[in-house]
Amino acid sequence: MKLNSLLVHGAVDGDEFTGSVNIPIYQTSTYKQWGLGDYKYEYSRTGNPTREALEKTIALLEGGYGGLAFASGMAAITTVLLSLRAGDRVIIPDNLYGGTFRVVDKVFKNLDIEYSIVSPSDMEGLEKELQAGGVKLVLVETPTNPLMDITDIQAVSDIAHRYDALVAVDNTFMSPYLQRPLEHGADIVIHSATKYIGGHSNTVAGLVVTKTKELYDKYQFLQNAAGGVLGPFDSFMLLTGLKTLGVRMDRHEENAAKIFDYLKTESAVTKIYYAGDPDKKGYEVQKKQADGFGGMLSFVVDEAYDHKKFVKALKVITLGESLGGVESLICHPVSMTHAAIDKEIRDKAGIVERMLRLSVGIEAVEDLIDDLKQAFGASRN
Ligand SMILES: Cc1ncc(COP(=O)(O)O)c(C=O)c1O
Repeated sequence: MKLNSLLVHGAVDGDEFTGSVNIPIYQTSTYKQWGLGDYKYEYSRTGNPTREALEKTIALLEGGYGGLAFASGMAAITTVLLSLRAGDRVIIPDNLYGGTFRVVDKVFKNLDIEYSIVSPSDMEGLEKELQAGGVKLVLVETPTNPLMDITDIQAVSDIAHRYDALVAVDNTFMSPYLQRPLEHGADIVIHSATKYIGGHSNTVAGLVVTKTKELYDKYQFLQNAAGGVLGPFDSFMLLTGLKTLGVRMDRHEENAAKIFDYLKTESAVTKIYYAGDPDKKGYEVQKKQADGFGGMLSFVVDEAYDHKKFVKALKVITLGESLGGVESLICHPVSMTHAAIDKEIRDKAGIVERMLRLSVGIEAVEDLIDDLKQAFGASRN
């Protein structure tokens, strides 16, 4: 089956007991055992049929051995990091979701898991860090949040594997509809399913997919041991969201491309970061490893305009954290999503005060462009 059909039918197509076309919400914590050791499910932290349908579906979509669902994207990332030991090292990019940086910098560093920062396209820098020894995990976000930097997943995987390091790709911005990192050599895929997979800004969730059984067993053990599982209702919400992922992503992408074209002509904007910009470094890599450019872009507002007034003046686009919902959302990375990253690191990467990040929704694009135009008009100094 093609991906669009897999999205609709999933890995578990309906309920085997009732024939319901949707997987029911098995809202239970425990299960009857018919005798000692004679049971289908044991306890819902360990396994739940609704969560299991989701986990099998995401594994199918990403082309992995197995999937695991967590209470948030951060719970998913934390579980992957929990497999490291004191003395191990992890590589992270110089711009990435602020919460990922925070857990690496403020939680795992205290457990003697050190990190090094390498720019997404710096293969020499990556190799140097790997040569220094101890690196067990290379964490990739591509495109990155918020600079949309593109990492060549295959190139990073080839280098990392030479040094026995695993590669985990945060695929939140692309979703399996546009990018399947395991096909390009990665070992692990992570999602904040809160975003495009859920798609309606109504569920917080995370997913992990592994290439091998060995890694699946390791993370499944940690999922049960640490316990950050996704509940049955939220699993159902993601299964519902996945059915329309393809049509939503197509519209997100179409709208984002048109907004990019408009922003290029807008004198209030001095810089645009967009994976579909043909002049962007990594554009060819993006075309090679992904089936599209997604619905995210960031831009820098010219000094002649007040960016704080601008976000306040927007009427259709909502100022808020998060992304990937059907509604357009704008955020100010420096004070919102990336506030947890030290200013020095942010400045070095180019995450500046006047930068805004736009998650382009599926509204009529004319309304979005009109909204941006009127808000620029209202925010001129
Ligand atoms: C790229 C990326 N990864 C991970 C996360 C964390 O996910 P969650 O908010 O679901 O914990 C986010 C949240 O914004 C994100 O943008």
